[in-house]
Amino acid sequence: MKSMVDLSHEFLKPVLHKQAICVDATLGQGKDTYFFLSQNVHKVYGFEIQRDVFESTKEQLDDQKTCFYNVGHEHMEEYIHEEVDAIIFNFGYFPHGDHGITTQSSSSVSAVRQALKLLKVKGRMALVMYPHESGQEEAKCMEEFLKTQTSIQVQKIQNLLVDHCPYLLLIEKRR
Ligand SMILES: C[S@@+](CC[C@H](N)C(=O)[O-])C[C@H]1O[C@@H](n2cnc3c(N)ncnc32)[C@H](O)[C@@H]1O
Repeated sequence: MKSMVDLSHEFLKPVLHKQAICVDATLGQGKDTYFFLSQNVHKVYGFEIQRDVFESTKEQLDDQKTCFYNVGHEHMEEYIHEEVDAIIFNFGYFPHGDHGITTQSSSSVSAVRQALKLLKVKGRMALVMYPHESGQEEAKCMEEFLKTQTSIQVQKIQNLLVDHCPYLLLIEKRR
């Protein structure tokens, strides 16, 4: 079966084209940015708070199509001044680094609120949630926030047989 990350990419694919503007809200080692670039999109914005992770990914993936910022995604509206087609948030911590540096409920909800404003009508956003110890509260807050939104459709994709494993919230903007 496909991983949640693979499923998130499949969900985003239909809105990716040569003029598409994309956001990788949690750059990490750049796998999601690499996916966007492989689809020949126009531009990818990327956000990452850890300087060493940021520098190493920037060195590998920096090109004319990328705009990477070493700032938290909760500041994205200060850096993106155009409508976007596709956004991915891969929450949690950098797997090969300090697991104490992880996304946080309030900044994550604030970032998704900004991302929804930037998203075009019919644009798509994928949230990969990690409901392990520190991610449990974040997942709960995110679902509560999304339930208050009236301009989107949201589907939840999860593994029925395994508790606390990664799951997906797939969003399309309706109006
Ligand atoms: C699960 S990893 C992302 C994996 C990444 N998409 C990839 O393909 O490698 C989560 C990343 O989010 C970063 N992060 C944590 N809080 C953040 C924030 N407020 N804004 C942006 N990035 C953040 C972490 O440092 C970590 O690198």
